[in-house]
Amino acid sequence: MLTRPDVAVVGAGPVGLGIAWRCAARGLRVVVHDPAPGSGASHVAAGMLSPVAEAYFGEHELTGLLTESAARWPGFAAELAEAAGTDFGHRTEGTLVVGLTGDDLAEARRLWSYQQGLGLPITPLRPSELRDREPALAPRVRGGAVAPGDHQVDPRRLVAALRAAAERAGATLVPGAVARLTDVDARVTVVAAGCGAAALTGLPVRPVKGQVLRLRAPGRGTPDFRHVIRGYADGESVYLVPRAHGEVVLGATVEERADTEVTAGAVLRLLRAAVDLVPDLAEYDLVEAAAGLRPGTPDNAPILGPLPGRPGVLVATGHHRHGILLTPVTADLIAELVVTGTADPLLAPFAPDRFTAGAAARAAGRDRIAPTPEEETCN
Ligand code: GLY
Repeated sequence: MLTRPDVAVVGAGPVGLGIAWRCAARGLRVVVHDPAPGSGASHVAAGMLSPVAEAYFGEHELTGLLTESAARWPGFAAELAEAAGTDFGHRTEGTLVVGLTGDDLAEARRLWSYQQGLGLPITPLRPSELRDREPALAPRVRGGAVAPGDHQVDPRRLVAALRAAAERAGATLVPGAVARLTDVDARVTVVAAGCGAAALTGLPVRPVKGQVLRLRAPGRGTPDFRHVIRGYADGESVYLVPRAHGEVVLGATVEERADTEVTAGAVLRLLRAAVDLVPDLAEYDLVEAAAGLRPGTPDNAPILGPLPGRPGVLVATGHHRHGILLTPVTADLIAELVVTGTADPLLAPFAPDRFTAGAAARAAGRDRIAPTPEEETCN
């Protein structure tokens, strides 16, 4: 690209590519910098679009944004399928939340009662209703609920589709790392580098490790169940995400660590919980065990908007457990901000300035905040 781009996006995960696509589709000249597109948290993610079952106590603002993005997903998916010309496994069978033992069910029920109290669509089921929906569930599963609006998508195929759509709209991918923001020459720079954003911006984004397994149904058949299943099993929390082509994604640990090692203990706990809930999974092939680093923030909510003290720099990171679900709303609102210069009111609770008092002090006199050793591994 010979002329100065309008927008440089740092990070080619779903959030960065979604922003790049939306900006390029509005006629802007866009470059996306990433040494390894799609190799971050999204490569490991299960792809649950779960605004209801992941509405947790004390996360009211975040729950609102999850709901808003879930409402945008069908339109976003239809536009993306047309723009990219590929399927990315968007499935709408809904999610079952189940408890194996009486204690597990009590824990599940406490959360879904809270979610019901917020007016979110989740409905308790009798055990017989649960098994009618999913005969593969173990007979000893004590009960559960259905969240019919909690869907799923395949994150790896989503990233490929977003990349294709962005490139078809005219965006250019530049394979390389951005070490400091002054290395980027564009009218607007959008930092969408997951937990790597910490080193570029000084914002408090930390890696939160998640270990995830991928199983495959015998003979490459389809899995024995079709809903996403989120379960509590003897105190372990696990989710099972069935894909059309036989894959089942099984996750995930939530660890305050920055390494990507896979541990025997985590694999054991995930498999034991999964097989307790769906016994047939013991017959599946174990085809992948991996760990990814979610970009976590102090309040578990994303950081979206202008970086204080850095005119022309926007941030879209900190999506923690919800990067795939939040891709449409993030892409739409950040592209709108780039194009119009005006922040949608939906962005207000997620503005970077809620964290920048400390960052500004650390940044004084420096262009780049030196990363900690943990941040350096977080790409
Ligand atoms: N949203 C699922 C996870 O982060 O494990």
